[in-house]
Amino acid sequence: MNFDLPILAPSILAANFSKLGIEIETCIDSGIQWIHCDIMDGHFVPNISYGPAIVKSVRDTAPESFLDVHLMIENPDNFIEDFADAGADLISVHYEACPHLHRTIQNIKMNGCMAGVVVNPATSIELLRPILPEVDLVLIMSVNPGFGGQAFIESSFQKVEALAHIRNEMNLNFLIEIDGGVSKNNIAKLSESGTDVLVAGSSVFKTDDIPQRISELNHLAKTGAGKIA
Ligand code: DX5
Ligand code: ZN
Repeated sequence: MNFDLPILAPSILAANFSKLGIEIETCIDSGIQWIHCDIMDGHFVPNISYGPAIVKSVRDTAPESFLDVHLMIENPDNFIEDFADAGADLISVHYEACPHLHRTIQNIKMNGCMAGVVVNPATSIELLRPILPEVDLVLIMSVNPGFGGQAFIESSFQKVEALAHIRNEMNLNFLIEIDGGVSKNNIAKLSESGTDVLVAGSSVFKTDDIPQRISELNHLAKTGAGKIA
């Protein structure tokens, strides 16, 4: 799939689950192509969200959308097939949860999905160098994973810039995704810093006019793009 970068990816964790299908359709009608699904197990992160059954429902509601499944779980290898079967296009796993990360990335690909690796705010991107040639996407957490609505960690800008530099230095073309606390106040600068995929939960769904908010965020993201130093 080719995408018009930068991509705004709503995180449905922040949606109203009593009308999840309607809110997903509203996003799609507003031009959204990429949907971020946050999977939490209550062990790797101190919260529980939802599982493959909900991802399957999202797939049934949005057959043409790109489903970006973010596994914040221990032992992700045990669930890769389930989420691939549920309709994931991309599955990302945490560096901190994968003692055999190369094998896990291969497992994701063998299940027909694009593969992403995620780093928490305190994890250096330098640790990712050996796996970067194997992944389609790197997700930089700009909050501590587990909850939506948290404050953006400002040092994430520098982390994005440093990763974009490493990508150029290694002549690779993985996507750079940011996740957590993305809003009207930082989305243009994040795009300018080199972010390709901007995950936004609260700033998309915690409003009474989702289409208007999506339009605002998309415009800001595109104004920041192309100014990369
Ligand atoms: C947090 C999740 C994020 C979160 C984003 O663990 O990975 O995707 O849902 O929500 P906001 O945009 O509200 O910070
Ligand atoms: Zn996420």
